[in-house]
Parts: sequence; structure tokens; C-alpha cells
Amino acid sequence: MAETMRGLKRSHRCAELSKANIGESVTVMGWVQKNRNKGGIVFVDLRDRSGILQLIFEENEQLKEKAAKLRSEFVIAAVGKVEARSGAVNENIATGEIEIRVEELRILSESETPPFPIEENSKTKEELRLKYRFLDIRRPDLQRNLLLRSQVSTLTRQFLTEEGFLEIETPILGKTTPEGARDYLVPSRVHLGSFYGLPQSPQLFKQLLMCSGCDRYFQIAKCFRDEDLRADRQPEFTQIDMELSFVDIDDVIDVNERLLARLFKDIMNIEVPLPIPRMTWQEAMDRFGSDKPDVRFGMELTDVTEVVKDCEFVVFKGAIENGGSVRGINVKGQGAMPRKKIDKLVEFAKGYGAKGLAYIAIQEDGSVKSSFAKFMKEDEMTALIKAMDGENGDLLLFAADKTKLVWDVLGALRLELAKQLELFDKDEFKFLWITEFPLFEWSEEEGRYTAMHHPFTMPMEEDLEYLETDLGRVRAKAYDIVLNGNEIGGGSVRIFQNDIQSKMFECLGFTPEQAQEKFGFLLEAFKYGVPPHAGLAYGLDRIVMLMAKADSIRDVIAFPKIKDASCLLTNAPSGADAVQLQELGLELAKLEEE
Ligand code: AMO
Ligand code: AMP
Repeated sequence: MAETMRGLKRSHRCAELSKANIGESVTVMGWVQKNRNKGGIVFVDLRDRSGILQLIFEENEQLKEKAAKLRSEFVIAAVGKVEARSGAVNENIATGEIEIRVEELRILSESETPPFPIEENSKTKEELRLKYRFLDIRRPDLQRNLLLRSQVSTLTRQFLTEEGFLEIETPILGKTTPEGARDYLVPSRVHLGSFYGLPQSPQLFKQLLMCSGCDRYFQIAKCFRDEDLRADRQPEFTQIDMELSFVDIDDVIDVNERLLARLFKDIMNIEVPLPIPRMTWQEAMDRFGSDKPDVRFGMELTDVTEVVKDCEFVVFKGAIENGGSVRGINVKGQGAMPRKKIDKLVEFAKGYGAKGLAYIAIQEDGSVKSSFAKFMKEDEMTALIKAMDGENGDLLLFAADKTKLVWDVLGALRLELAKQLELFDKDEFKFLWITEFPLFEWSEEEGRYTAMHHPFTMPMEEDLEYLETDLGRVRAKAYDIVLNGNEIGGGSVRIFQNDIQSKMFECLGFTPEQAQEKFGFLLEAFKYGVPPHAGLAYGLDRIVMLMAKADSIRDVIAFPKIKDASCLLTNAPSGADAVQLQELGLELAKLEEE
């Protein structure tokens, strides 16, 4: 029979005790990390959220016997005196200089042997850890990450409140807001055949709140997107979402720079130099092949289209004739890279859709090895190497194709090489704003333009005329905030005029009826006095992931889902019983056999 806490009250968490408490009588409670019997003395490591504390059982034989029987993950209470450690001091833990000489021990709850050890830097496979997530979270790394996450939320609330933002909740059961992913739908019991859509973001409601005169809104909001999952994407995730009235880009950027600086200073003691640099989308693509460049290292792209436009190498010539370009990166000091390794890079590039990767490996003696030298004249090679700032010992890599593909391939290659060659400092945090995004993006799949950010983003005033003539050319008053190559947030100045909003829907291929059906309430609100407004949303999970130096947002979410969007702990999603389906007016189509 387990004992109870009756008559006991916890006085401290384990790691709250230190040398300063020596001589005090304390009551601690927690989980048994391990116990060991050393020459007739029993030591027990007690763990709770705060850390680990050593208990010592020496004089009382009965207590000693009880302590020796404790097993990992038993929950116990111990009453005793804080003493300086009799044995060696443990410098690795905060309470390493003290121990508790126990006078009373209670076993509050026993434990089966856990399926994996509860320890830091676990080697256990993630699937098993996620199945037993309640045990996984006992591990110090996850405890730390959840603490960090809580600090970020708390401080964000505090900061935004000080800045005059109101925290307002918006519905989860609503109409979907398009952000470019698939929607999650919830069938209605009352309105058979109708569905709520879970919000991909609170975008429409926050704009309505501006129409309502709320002036400044924020919310730590759950968002739902049915899309392919990756390390930094979950089907449900959390945004720090905000919207401001009577502002333009600089106002949004100003308050957000101060928010970021505050979070990093107060939580990590890291100074974020302000203002955060800004770069246009075009410059980011040209220099880094990415709209979220990691600027902790160089290895920038060079456009060599002009240099090679007259050469006879069909790969280059063909790409240029097709309206594409030829670009390269200079991998400094890697000219001696073995052929096998270069071939691996070619395969990597092909994974991003490249048809190949051309290279020039400049040896230390100035001779070159190249996959395409035989197609080039000598002076053409010399000019190309010069354009790339190629020096003895450098490796030059080239991609030739449609420019978007060339950017993707070299952008990815640049990151991969930086990782392999350890070109960046893992402790550095480099923020960057990306501005002047294209408003539209051509979708090959759908054969039409789609909104790059979302349909409520304001075109740049100087590009309004191209709404009629050249959609690809219209830039948006949109901005993303990037940290170490991760898009941690994004937003825009919004359209607040009905005519531009209707024009925008038209450009995106909505008929007026479709626009009315989907967004009629917004267009209606726009008839009754709309303040100019703008906003932004962060991926909270991503910010915490980067602060925690974790590899995936799964490590900073208490109960995340895996790649196929299922939850290994609860087995969600799962079937519904016949009665539920009937109430909802649903009938399952015969599913194809796998
Ligand atoms: P956006 O779609 O860019 O903008 O989303 C804002 C930020 O949310 C994070 N994010 C995600 N995090 C985890 N898992 C996902 N599946 C996921 N998708 C997005 C990213 C991203 O930068 N309503 C607009 C914001 C605005 O215009 O104010 C919006 O949702 O860090
Ligand atoms: P090939 O003549 O097809 O063997 O190609 C000669 C070299 O050009 C090889 O190193 C290929 O990997 C490379 N290559 C092929 N297609 C491309 C491309 N689109 N961009 C850059 N290099 C390419």
C-alpha cells in the first residue's frame, strides 16, 4: 500500500536548496532517479522539475532498508536535515555541495520499470519517447524547453500589453482563413452537410478587430494547417499573432524589433543589435538563393550568365536560351575535394530538381579539374574563374536552369556545405528582415497566380499599375523576419480599400460570387470605415526551437505529432463510431485497399 502525504508539506523543490540551507530541516518530494548502496550507506538521487538532490540514509537501519528497496521513478517524500556533502562534491549539479540526511521516508507511488531511462540527451528513438511522452517530458532537456517556452509566452504578453495591445481570443470553429495550406474541417451536427474550418491563422478576425476599433490586438493563437510536415512544421502550431491600426511597415518593424530584443535579452542574456538589417526579397534571392537566408556565413551566389552566354557548353547555353540563368558558388579552400564527395553534392543538387551540377576544382598549383572544361575555350574558363573570384584551392559549383530552380539548388547547396564545413557559429543569432516580396507567385500546379503571402496584403503603391498589366512584377508591402536561416515570422500591411481588395480577388481568379461567399463578411466590414492596418505573426514554436538550439519544433511542443500527422501517445486521429457518423450525417466512402 502506498503511503500518503498526510501531515507533510513540501518545503522546497530539489534544486532550490544550496549551501545556504545547511542546518535547516526540509521536506522534499519527487521521483527517484537512482539509488545506490555504498558500504552500508544508501544514497538516493531525488529528481523534480528543478533538478536533482542527494538523499543520504546512514544510521537508521529500518529507513536504510526501505531506501534500498526504492526503484527508479518511485515517487517519494523525504524529511531531513540539509548537510554539507560527506563525500565528494559534485560540480555538475546545482545541489552538488549538499545532501539531505533523511529522518522520514514515504513512498507515495510506485513505478514499473520505465521503457527508457529518464535522462538528459536520451539515445532512445523518438517514436518510443513520443509514445510515452509523459515520461519523456520528465527528462531535463524537455523540462528546460517547456520552461523556456513558458518564459517566451509570459514575456511576450507582458511586453505587448505594455505597448498597448489587447489580448483577444478569436474562434477556432469558424470559416477557414487561407494561408496557402489545406484546411482542417469539422462537420456540424446541427447544420448537416456544413463544416467549420479550423483557422490557418486568425488573419480575418484580427483585421475585423481593427475595423472594430480595437487598435492593437495580440493573441498567442493555435493555428491549423494540413500540409506536409517537416522539422519546423506541425499540423497545429502556435503563433504570436498581432495587428495594429494607423501604422505602416516601419511601425510594425519597430515594435517587433524591441520585442525580439527584449525576449533575447531577458531570457538568454543576448543583445540583439537594433535596428535589425533589412534586405529586399530580390537581393536575398540573388545573393543567397533563399528568401530566408542564413547570413552567419558568406558563400554568396554569383550570376555568371553574362560571362558564359557565348560559350558552347550546351548545358549553359540551353538554360540561357530558355530564359534561365547560370549561377555559381565559390566553396573556398575545397578545390582538393575528392571526386566522390563532389559526386555526392551533384546528387544532393539533383534532389532539389537540378539536372546536374557543373564544377571547376582549382588545384593548389593552379591547374584545374572540371566537368565541362572540354566544352569551353581557355579564355572563357579564365573569365569564368575570375568572375567567381576563384583562387588556387577553390571549388566552384555551377547550376544552369530556370532561375528559380537555380536559386533553390544553390541556396540549398550553400546551407548543406556550410553545415558540412562548419562555417557558422552555433551560438550566434543573426536576425534579418526580408522586404518587398512579390505579391503573386506563379503556381505551375494550378496554372494561375496565387498570393505569395495571403490575399489581404497591400501591393506597393508604386506597383499598383502592374495589377492590370504584369502581375509577376507587383511587389507587396510584406515582410518576413528571419533568424539564422529560419523564417520565424511574417506579416504585411493590409489592403483596406474595397476596390483594391476586390481587384486582388479577381487577380487570384475568384469570381465576385466566390469572393463574396468566402470573404463577404470582410468586404462588408470594409464598407463601414476601416483604419489602415498592418500586422505580423511569429511561429512561437520556431522561436523557442532556435533559442533552445533544438533540431525540431517537436522538441519544444509538449505533445507534438509525427510526420504523418498522428499522435503516437493518444493514437489520434481515430475512427468515429456509427452513431457519431449518423448524427453528423456522414457516410464513409469505401477506402481503397492499401
Ligand atoms: P504565415 O503563414 O507566414 O503568416 O505564418 C506566420 C509564421 O507562423 C509559422 N508557421 C508555422 N510554424 C509551425 N508549423 C507550421 N505548419 C507553420 N506555418 C507557419 C512561421 C511563419 O513565419 N496571418 C499571417 C501573418 C500576418 O500576415 O500577420 C500568417 O499566418 O514561423
Ligand atoms: P553532361 O554533358 O550532361 O555530362 O554534363 C556535363 C556536366 O554538366 C556534368 O558535370 C553535369 O553534372 C553538369 N550539368 C548537367 N546539367 C546541368 C545543369 N542544369 N546545371 C549545371 N550543371 C549541369
